[in-house]
Amino acid sequence: MKSSSENYNTLLVIGLAITLLIMAGLALYALFEPQRLAHGQEQILSARIERGGEIFQQQCASCHGSQGEGGVGPALNNRALLKITSDNAFFSVIRSGVPNTQMPAWGIEFGGPLTDEDVRDAVAFIRNYEATAPEIAAAAFTPDPVRGALLFDSTCAICHGPNGSGGDRAPRLNDPARLQKFPDEWYRGVIQHGRPARGMPTWGTVLSPNQISDLVALTAAWRGGQTVKPEYSFESALEMAIFSLENNDPESAALNVERALEVAPEDDKPVLRSVIEQLSAGDQAGALAQLEELQAAPAANPAEGAVLFSANCAACHGAQGEGGIGKPLQNNQFIQGQSDQDLQQFILDGRAGTAMVGFQGRLDSSQISSIIALLRLWNP
Ligand code: HEC
Ligand code: HEC
Ligand code: HEC
Repeated sequence: MKSSSENYNTLLVIGLAITLLIMAGLALYALFEPQRLAHGQEQILSARIERGGEIFQQQCASCHGSQGEGGVGPALNNRALLKITSDNAFFSVIRSGVPNTQMPAWGIEFGGPLTDEDVRDAVAFIRNYEATAPEIAAAAFTPDPVRGALLFDSTCAICHGPNGSGGDRAPRLNDPARLQKFPDEWYRGVIQHGRPARGMPTWGTVLSPNQISDLVALTAAWRGGQTVKPEYSFESALEMAIFSLENNDPESAALNVERALEVAPEDDKPVLRSVIEQLSAGDQAGALAQLEELQAAPAANPAEGAVLFSANCAACHGAQGEGGIGKPLQNNQFIQGQSDQDLQQFILDGRAGTAMVGFQGRLDSSQISSIIALLRLWNP
């Protein structure tokens, strides 16, 4: 029989051996931990890319090409674009769309079908092109100060004043003497990065690089002492005037009626002049009634509808409405069962949760009436 101290020594050795084994195991585990983590992250990323790819094929390929090579929309499989565009910038341009272009808003907050998580997946998919993307010669994009002026008016003038003439909240921008001191690249940098601490927002995460180029073209025009007028369409100015009156803002309404007058068809000018008189006499209700009447007289024209259809709908519904990503629109029971007014509303609103995104803000009511006239020809 062994003494108790011998027993104790044996136990001690065994305990020590076990401790050493555990320590060695832990060390080994720790050694491979970064790899395991990296592997986990890789798996998460590749799941994202896979989901993003599905979203892209369903919602984006019709305009951007199934390989991202471009079509109605610009190529996204483009190294130069990927290099200058951050994930955040892609994220916000996809969520909010590009105003006044065919790029719809996809984020739920902006009336689109995609959650933020979906949009991030789509961004991961686009980013994944970068490793293999071809260097595409600078796309045929020409910065345009007039387009810049329209964007400035809706986005920047609220602080910098109309035409960059300065406001309560931000300095004058259209001063040629100051503009002479800094090159275009400096202006691009300020607009892109902002000066958040001093009240100038960061626009690089909100606007696309092309939109910023349009704004830089605008500041370049100001540098040369030019005044650049944004080009409003008659319909959009009319719509804004009505909106202002409905919101009890006769001052903005008068401004928008003036804008509409500049671009109105000759026949409509006398009505607009009388609306201006009504407004200055304080007759808001009368002015609103006249404007609404003007807006409600749509010249539905199926030929114009065909042009609009091929620009706005054919990518998904086929050139002759034969169907594609979107349903066939010839001999279509849904269309046959709807009044013109219902169809107007449907096209404005779209169908939530599908690629059929509403055209609110992109097509005006007379344009939609023309498209409906075409749909009626296809659905006797
Ligand atoms: C109906 C056609 C259409 C569809 C569908 C569409 N896009 Fe676009 N997209 C465009 C157009 C046109 C532009 C260019 C807008 C402009 O002139 O700045 C654009 C621009 C973009 C840009 C900015 C590129 C740049 O040069 O800054 C991104 C990113 C983008 N789209 C991603 C997407 C994603 C992701 C989807 C799907 C969720 C999608 N688009 C679906 C038409 C479309
Ligand atoms: C919320 C108000 C606000 C909006 C909206 C805004 N800015 Fe600014 N911006 C400012 C302020 C404030 C400054 C001055 C910052 C400072 O003191 O350094 C500024 C400065 C600038 C400057 C630098 C001027 C100079 O000479 O130093 C540029 C360029 C500019 N903004 C362009 C734009 C453009 C383009 C837009 C629209 C896309 C825009 N800003 C929208 C508030 C705004
Ligand atoms: C980005 C792709 C896309 C574009 C662009 C698009 N649609 Fe659609 N549209 C769809 C999809 C997808 C559906 C089917 C939605 C569903 O699953 O219910 C649809 C459904 C419709 C329907 C209902 C058909 C039915 O049988 O339920 C009409 C009408 C329609 N679209 C008209 C238009 C018109 C007019 C335009 C152009 C102004 C247009 N769409 C542009 C994708 C699109």
